Amino acid sequence: MKQLIIQGGKKLYGSIAISGSKNASLPILAASLLIDEIIILRNIPNVKDILTMKTLLESIGKKIEFNILKNEIKIYPTKIKKLEALYSLVKTMRAGVLVLGPLIAKYDFARVSLPGGCAIGSRPVDLHIEALKKMGAKIKIEKGYIVAEAPKKLNPVKIKFSSISVGATENLIMAATLCKGKTIIQNIAIEPEILDLINFLNCSGAKISFVSKRSIVIEGVDKLRGINYSVIPDRIEAGTYAVAALITNGKITLNKINREMMSNIFQILKKAGAKIVFGKNNSVTISRKIIKPTKIKTMPYPGFPTDMQAQLMSLLCLSKGSSLIKEEIFENRFLHVSELKRMGANIKISNQSANIIGIENLNGAEVMATDLRASVSLVLAGLAAKGTTIINRIYHLERGYENLVSKLKQCGAKIVLKNV
Ligand code: EPZ
Repeated sequence: MKQLIIQGGKKLYGSIAISGSKNASLPILAASLLIDEIIILRNIPNVKDILTMKTLLESIGKKIEFNILKNEIKIYPTKIKKLEALYSLVKTMRAGVLVLGPLIAKYDFARVSLPGGCAIGSRPVDLHIEALKKMGAKIKIEKGYIVAEAPKKLNPVKIKFSSISVGATENLIMAATLCKGKTIIQNIAIEPEILDLINFLNCSGAKISFVSKRSIVIEGVDKLRGINYSVIPDRIEAGTYAVAALITNGKITLNKINREMMSNIFQILKKAGAKIVFGKNNSVTISRKIIKPTKIKTMPYPGFPTDMQAQLMSLLCLSKGSSLIKEEIFENRFLHVSELKRMGANIKISNQSANIIGIENLNGAEVMATDLRASVSLVLAGLAAKGTTIINRIYHLERGYENLVSKLKQCGAKIVLKNV
């Protein structure tokens, strides 16, 4: 088992190159099932979830080469072996459910494990299933699997999502790209990662266009072409390291960011006291004087992202006053609170809101990670705390942060990975 050991109290100074977006790479990798030509994907982060998606696509029949030194994935057209995503893979990475749309669009059949819940909530996929049924797919749940068939192909329909879902939007977009006729999808999620998927599909020959802020029209095409494509930077990774600069009262320059995609994150960090100076070629320098208390709720894009909620909470533990964070997206995304309280944080939860009373300093402790973003909030707290923090179950971190230890070390953090 691996642990992270952090000696807190060091101000971080230096620069960090931001990796490619995990949550843009995953749907784009799934979309490769729609394409029978060579695809080259660049700026792909070397993180566990990408390796899991690679294994899943190989189990379906894709031949994939991942050059981790170049962060480049090459996908070759091969004979598809089986149209299914097994529980053994989907249970460790719920984004495996994103092969459902491409498989049924291209092969009229898919057997995909229900992802099951995870630490942050029950994470149902009812919106994915209902939408595909409206397109004419016959879907039944059998022994924990979604079994979907479209013997007469999918039909172009007009669908309005009853609530905003990133994954359901992605599955439906991929399902509609090869569906003859015009499919209209309303009330879609518009996260930058979805816009990147749409851009990737359009570059490979799809016909997807916006008719309003949250509505798109997809004109089905016969086939998509293989392309050479670079995914967007990871805005959540960048936001995480911005908080590392703020919580340690240091100064960090982030390189290779996308400024527009981070405007909502920067807006909130500014409210919390951040000084944000944009530099040349997609860089930004983050520092602060004091940490100001803030009131925020998580929202679908362009609101403040739920994936930055835990990181912001760690920062607000050290603010000069009382803050409020309302988690509007997931029903159980406060698992980091009990661990932060073990480090001395003063946080009270009621319903979906956390009331954080700022304190002078956090104290190092042995803590346990529970999900990807909760884990990194404990790293941030450990960087600022007095004394030593030991973080257990860090496999959560390895799912979504490329070279986290070396990136923090290069800014002066006293952090080591230990096998125990
Ligand atoms: C994506 O998950 C991201 N994962 C999550 O990031 C992110 O937190 C989430 O979007 C919200 O932004 C990837 O992109 C791989 P949703 P997804 O469908 O698609 C409910 C991370 O840390 N819902 O937008 O699963 C759902 O329970 C991860 O990188 C239904 O009720 O999120 C949740 O409450 C964590 N029925 C809300 O909608 C459905 O069919 C938003 O979920 C689907 C979702």
